[in-house]
Amino acid sequence: MCVLSIVCLCLFNCWIKGVTELGSYTLEQVAQHNTRKDCWMVLFGKVYNVTEYLPFHPGGKGELMRGAGKDGTKLFLEYHSWVNPELMLDKCLVGFLR
Ligand code: HEM
Repeated sequence: MCVLSIVCLCLFNCWIKGVTELGSYTLEQVAQHNTRKDCWMVLFGKVYNVTEYLPFHPGGKGELMRGAGKDGTKLFLEYHSWVNPELMLDKCLVGFLR
Protein backbone atom coordinates (compact mmCIF):
# COMPACT_ATOMS: atom_id res chain seq x y z
CA MET A 1 0.00 0.00 0.00
CA CYS A 2 1.41 3.41 -0.95
CA VAL A 3 2.02 6.38 1.42
CA LEU A 4 -0.94 8.26 -0.07
CA SER A 5 -3.27 5.39 0.84
CA ILE A 6 -2.04 5.39 4.44
CA VAL A 7 -2.52 9.18 4.74
CA CYS A 8 -6.02 8.77 3.25
CA LEU A 9 -6.83 6.03 5.78
CA CYS A 10 -5.69 8.13 8.77
CA LEU A 11 -7.66 11.18 7.61
CA PHE A 12 -10.71 9.06 7.02
CA ASN A 13 -10.63 7.33 10.40
CA CYS A 14 -10.44 10.70 12.18
CA TRP A 15 -13.31 12.01 10.10
CA ILE A 16 -16.02 9.35 10.49
CA LYS A 17 -17.95 8.33 13.63
CA GLY A 18 -19.67 5.01 12.80
CA VAL A 19 -23.01 3.52 13.89
CA THR A 20 -23.88 2.53 17.46
CA GLU A 21 -25.92 -0.56 16.55
CA LEU A 22 -25.27 -3.13 13.81
CA GLY A 23 -28.13 -4.55 11.72
CA SER A 24 -28.91 -7.50 9.47
CA TYR A 25 -29.67 -6.63 5.85
CA THR A 26 -30.77 -8.42 2.68
CA LEU A 27 -29.19 -7.69 -0.71
CA GLU A 28 -32.47 -6.00 -1.68
CA GLN A 29 -32.10 -3.59 1.24
CA VAL A 30 -28.45 -2.92 0.36
CA ALA A 31 -29.53 -2.20 -3.23
CA GLN A 32 -31.61 0.77 -1.99
CA HIS A 33 -28.35 2.53 -1.11
CA ASN A 34 -26.68 2.89 -4.49
CA THR A 35 -25.96 6.60 -4.93
CA ARG A 36 -22.91 8.78 -4.19
CA LYS A 37 -24.85 10.40 -1.35
CA ASP A 38 -25.94 7.10 0.16
CA CYS A 39 -23.71 4.20 -0.83
CA TRP A 40 -23.68 0.79 0.81
CA MET A 41 -21.62 -2.22 -0.19
CA VAL A 42 -21.31 -5.84 0.90
CA LEU A 43 -17.77 -7.12 1.36
CA PHE A 44 -17.10 -10.63 2.68
CA GLY A 45 -20.59 -10.90 4.21
CA LYS A 46 -20.40 -7.56 6.00
CA VAL A 47 -22.46 -4.51 5.05
CA TYR A 48 -20.62 -1.19 4.87
CA ASN A 49 -21.87 2.35 4.36
CA VAL A 50 -19.01 3.57 2.17
CA THR A 51 -20.53 7.01 1.47
CA GLU A 52 -17.98 8.84 3.61
CA TYR A 53 -15.16 6.72 2.23
CA LEU A 54 -15.86 7.67 -1.41
CA PRO A 55 -13.62 10.80 -1.46
CA PHE A 56 -10.82 8.84 0.20
CA HIS A 57 -10.76 5.84 -2.16
CA PRO A 58 -7.34 5.90 -3.89
CA GLY A 59 -8.86 4.37 -7.03
CA GLY A 60 -11.44 7.18 -7.29
CA LYS A 61 -15.16 7.54 -6.63
CA GLY A 62 -16.22 6.10 -9.99
CA GLU A 63 -14.37 2.83 -9.41
CA LEU A 64 -15.80 2.43 -5.91
CA MET A 65 -19.30 3.18 -7.21
CA ARG A 66 -19.10 0.09 -9.43
CA GLY A 67 -19.89 -1.91 -6.30
CA ALA A 68 -22.56 0.49 -5.01
CA GLY A 69 -25.64 -1.22 -3.58
CA LYS A 70 -24.16 -4.64 -4.40
CA ASP A 71 -21.97 -7.41 -3.12
CA GLY A 72 -18.64 -5.90 -4.22
CA THR A 73 -16.47 -8.74 -2.90
CA LYS A 74 -15.54 -10.19 -6.32
CA LEU A 75 -14.78 -6.75 -7.77
CA PHE A 76 -12.81 -5.82 -4.66
CA LEU A 77 -10.67 -8.96 -4.94
CA GLU A 78 -10.10 -8.37 -8.66
CA TYR A 79 -8.41 -5.03 -7.96
CA HIS A 80 -6.74 -5.34 -4.60
CA SER A 81 -6.85 -8.65 -2.80
CA TRP A 82 -4.04 -7.35 -0.54
CA VAL A 83 -6.17 -4.53 0.92
CA ASN A 84 -7.78 -5.22 4.33
CA PRO A 85 -11.36 -3.85 4.24
CA GLU A 86 -12.16 -4.90 7.82
CA LEU A 87 -9.43 -2.63 9.12
CA MET A 88 -9.97 0.22 6.66
CA LEU A 89 -13.75 0.34 6.81
CA ASP A 90 -14.15 -0.47 10.51
CA LYS A 91 -16.16 2.69 11.15
CA CYS A 92 -18.29 2.20 8.01
CA LEU A 93 -19.69 -1.14 9.19
CA VAL A 94 -23.49 -1.01 9.48
CA GLY A 95 -24.18 -4.73 9.82
CA PHE A 96 -24.18 -8.15 8.21
CA LEU A 97 -25.71 -9.73 5.13
CA ARG A 98 -28.83 -11.70 6.06
C1 HEM B 1 -15.66 -2.89 -5.09
C2 HEM B 1 -15.40 -1.81 -5.79
C3 HEM B 1 -14.00 -1.29 -5.96
C4 HEM B 1 -13.32 -1.12 -7.13
C5 HEM B 1 -13.84 -1.42 -8.53
C6 HEM B 1 -12.01 -0.60 -6.80
C7 HEM B 1 -11.04 -0.27 -7.71
C8 HEM B 1 -9.82 0.27 -7.43
C9 HEM B 1 -8.86 0.72 -8.40
C10 HEM B 1 -9.05 0.65 -9.92
C11 HEM B 1 -7.79 1.17 -7.74
C12 HEM B 1 -6.56 1.80 -8.33
C13 HEM B 1 -5.48 0.79 -8.53
C14 HEM B 1 -4.25 1.48 -9.07
O1 HEM B 1 -4.21 2.70 -9.20
O2 HEM B 1 -3.29 0.75 -9.31
C15 HEM B 1 -8.05 1.02 -6.33
C16 HEM B 1 -7.17 1.34 -5.33
C17 HEM B 1 -7.43 1.15 -3.99
N1 HEM B 1 -8.63 0.80 -3.42
FE1 HEM B 1 -10.27 0.20 -4.43
N2 HEM B 1 -11.91 -0.48 -5.45
C18 HEM B 1 -13.10 -0.88 -4.89
C19 HEM B 1 -13.41 -0.89 -3.55
C20 HEM B 1 -12.55 -0.55 -2.54
C21 HEM B 1 -12.89 -0.54 -1.14
C22 HEM B 1 -14.25 -0.91 -0.55
C23 HEM B 1 -11.77 -0.16 -0.47
C24 HEM B 1 -11.58 -0.02 1.03
C25 HEM B 1 -11.47 -1.05 1.80
C26 HEM B 1 -10.72 0.06 -1.43
C27 HEM B 1 -9.44 0.43 -1.15
C28 HEM B 1 -8.45 0.74 -2.06
C29 HEM B 1 -7.08 1.05 -1.73
C30 HEM B 1 -6.48 1.09 -0.33
C31 HEM B 1 -6.44 1.29 -2.93
C32 HEM B 1 -4.96 1.62 -3.12
C33 HEM B 1 -4.24 0.29 -3.27
C34 HEM B 1 -2.75 0.44 -3.36
O3 HEM B 1 -2.24 1.53 -3.61
O4 HEM B 1 -2.07 -0.60 -3.18
N3 HEM B 1 -11.24 -0.15 -2.68
N4 HEM B 1 -9.30 0.49 -6.16
